[in-house]
Amino acid sequence: MATVEASGSDGKGQGVETPVTYYRLEEVAKRNSSKDIWLVIHGRVYDITRFLNEHPGGEEVLLEQAGADASESFEDVGHSSDAREMLKQYYIGDVHPNDLKPESGSKVRSLRKITRAKVAGRIGFSPS
Ligand code: HEM
Repeated sequence: MATVEASGSDGKGQGVETPVTYYRLEEVAKRNSSKDIWLVIHGRVYDITRFLNEHPGGEEVLLEQAGADASESFEDVGHSSDAREMLKQYYIGDVHPNDLKPESGSKVRSLRKITRAKVAGRIGFSPS
């Protein structure tokens, strides 16, 4: 676990700087019991231990995702904006950049790659 400054380095004129704590997925994976349960949703780490028996969708579904990336199941349910707002209370840090995997954005990224390749191809064929 490492704590670094989220933005800026001189600390002048930028308001309050929030330090971000980064967690490795290996560490998140250890928090997989009802006594200590963390989840990853969209690259952010949540300690939902105290939320477990308050979840309107029940404990069971959360325990199934314990210590893992629950982004997809969280989205599949179509949680309300209230539910998204609630996430903030349980936020403890971000997934370490080395452990971040492309998720919903990956389709867009691969489309961009294809487009770039096509453009490059066209340039290659044009007479110079
Ligand atoms: C910390 C993360 C989560 C929070 C804050 C949260 C919050 C909520 C809230 C407030 C509701 C009530 C309905 C709504 O307002 O959308 C709900 C329902 C539900 N949630 Fe979650 N949830 C979380 C994670 C999850 C995950 C990871 C799953 C799936 C594995 C899940 C599955 C469900 C289900 C099945 C319902 C019931 C939906 C229904 O009966 O219509 N939730 N959740």
